[in-house]
Amino acid sequence: MNLPNMNDAKKRTKQNVKILYDDYNTSNLENIGKDKQYLILTYGCQMNVHDSEYISGIMEDIGYTKTDDMDNADVIIVNTCAIRENAHNKAEGMLGRIKHLKEEKDNIIVIFCGCMAQEEGLVNKINKYKWIDIICGTHNYHKIPEYLSEYMNKGKVCEVYSIEGNVIENLPVVRDSKYTAWVNIQYGCDKFCTYCIVPYTRGKQRSRKSEDIIDEVRELYNNGYQEVTLLGQNVNAYGKDFDNDYDFADLLGEVASTGIPRIRFVTSHPWDFTDKMIEVISKCDNIMPYIHLPIQSGSDRILKLMGRKYTIKEYLEIIEKLRKNIPNVSITTDIIVGFPGETNEDFEKTLDIVNRVKYDLAYTFIFSPREGTPAAKMKDDTSMEEKKARLARLNELINKYALESNQKMKDKVYEVLIIGPSDKDNKYMGYTPNMKLVNVNCDETMLGKIVPVKITEVKTWSLDGEIASGE
Ligand code: 5AD
Ligand code: SF4
Repeated sequence: MNLPNMNDAKKRTKQNVKILYDDYNTSNLENIGKDKQYLILTYGCQMNVHDSEYISGIMEDIGYTKTDDMDNADVIIVNTCAIRENAHNKAEGMLGRIKHLKEEKDNIIVIFCGCMAQEEGLVNKINKYKWIDIICGTHNYHKIPEYLSEYMNKGKVCEVYSIEGNVIENLPVVRDSKYTAWVNIQYGCDKFCTYCIVPYTRGKQRSRKSEDIIDEVRELYNNGYQEVTLLGQNVNAYGKDFDNDYDFADLLGEVASTGIPRIRFVTSHPWDFTDKMIEVISKCDNIMPYIHLPIQSGSDRILKLMGRKYTIKEYLEIIEKLRKNIPNVSITTDIIVGFPGETNEDFEKTLDIVNRVKYDLAYTFIFSPREGTPAAKMKDDTSMEEKKARLARLNELINKYALESNQKMKDKVYEVLIIGPSDKDNKYMGYTPNMKLVNVNCDETMLGKIVPVKITEVKTWSLDGEIASGE
């Protein structure tokens, strides 16, 4: 048994991380899933969604097949998120259902993994639940085959590493889409924003080698993928852990030169956004004009308490450069309301910034204290009622600008990558270069293609369109 420890997770050493190409191994376990099914439930960010694609790859590598029906599953994997209390609650609600199922069908194997499994207090609790069979964290899910075998031979397994592992290459992967793909460029985060649990749950920053990233993108392109999204907690800091000065701008340039039609990246941090990056984005047609740049608050005082290390003035300078150099760029953001000590005046400053930047979209959250982070210990005397009222005001403003930016697109034609059926009126959905969701009146032969679409109707969250070819 190996339990996580938040103090160890906080430590950062200079020691170089190893890139391992043959650490995943399933010798003698290739068939343990023969004729059996697994179900995977995923909570949280794109990083977790992509981890689940790897976990699926691993499960299928050892003979399991995927099911979406919990009643048919022999193995249930819960890949959890720890970012806010409500992410916890969702996973815990699901655990209640699984417990019930396990009471009826004792032979199901339950695997609890992901970011919640990296939390010290929580794992101590979960580990006592007899009906959870395997607990592993974000650093060691590649060992699930070993853990399954150990469980089958000896019973319950709990192994979570507090200190991040190495970069593990060559894991099998089963991707959710045939047209768009996530590509990890870096793991972990060293920023330690005071509210955030991620540097603890995902460990220190570890960049993948650029050669491995480029090989992956080339292979995806050769296999018909039209779009890659480069993934990291902090993509602009890519390479800062290398001994040389190769950086994210260099990587973007190289990925662009593979010729893959569309490149996106998330998430950016204003601190590391350089002019060189903006120049590469503006020069390469296949880097999409869409930047997600979390601001978190419009008040310098709160930004300082959050440990964000930029001022509003610096943030606005980046926005100005982005707008000036990247035509039709969409800018989205994340905002936290009700951070400890946020006054009405601070909150008004956040509204001011939204009025200035006029975001295409923003993800807004009420501050959620995470155990073990500095902000969880800060004095917070704003009532939840007041925080909810602030969030509602903010959302109203965000929605107004989202609709306004969509309205500018009406009757114009955009290239849309059609990625799947839409839940509306037998249409298909896709995204414009600037990441607007469009429900398109077309048939399935358009799947996986980039087609010109005329925007016929606009709403706050999506657009409607028709194929424009021949016009
Ligand atoms: N409380 C509320 N929101 C948070 N986020 C991260 N940590 C917290 C927290 N403790 C938000 C930030 C981040 C996004 C992914 O989640 O806005 O950018
Ligand atoms: Fe993603 Fe953070 Fe949630 Fe982990 S805690 S799944 S890194 S959002």
